Amino acid sequence: METLRGIVVVLHLLSFATLFGTWLAELVNKQQRITRPMQWGMVAALVTGLALAAPWGLDFDLNYVKLGIKLLVLVIIGAVLGIGGSRQRRHQNNLPILFWSIGLLTVLNTGIAVLV
Ligand code: HEM
Repeated sequence: METLRGIVVVLHLLSFATLFGTWLAELVNKQQRITRPMQWGMVAALVTGLALAAPWGLDFDLNYVKLGIKLLVLVIIGAVLGIGGSRQRRHQNNLPILFWSIGLLTVLNTGIAVLV
């Protein structure tokens, strides 16, 4: 069971890496577009995160206040991805605040995950 949960943690980290890595690639390439892999990473982080938050019958406590905040931040990231993505389809460009908030909220969630 512990190994299985460990595998889900690896998948969770890869999801977060996909979301943040593809965001960073857009930043470096000066495109600042919302891309499909960002949405895949967000959905995968949500699914694996919820799976990790379930009771696994293992001997450790989860901080549900922290997980609730992470969930809220991820829902906001999802909303920004949705709003920004549809704006992009209509206007061919994006508001910088929408693009930047995706990266900054992802960093915030990483900080909450590791530091709190
Ligand atoms: C962009 C969104 C997210 C990011 C960047 C993120 C980041 C991380 C990171 C870096 C870890 C490893 C922490 C460590 O082992 O010290 C982690 C673990 C974890 N995350 Fe997330 N996460 C996100 C979303 C979520 C969501 C939505 C949930 C569930 C509501 C969640 C639940 C968990 C759980 C339960 C763990 C394992 C904690 C443990 O075993 O100690 N995460 N997350």
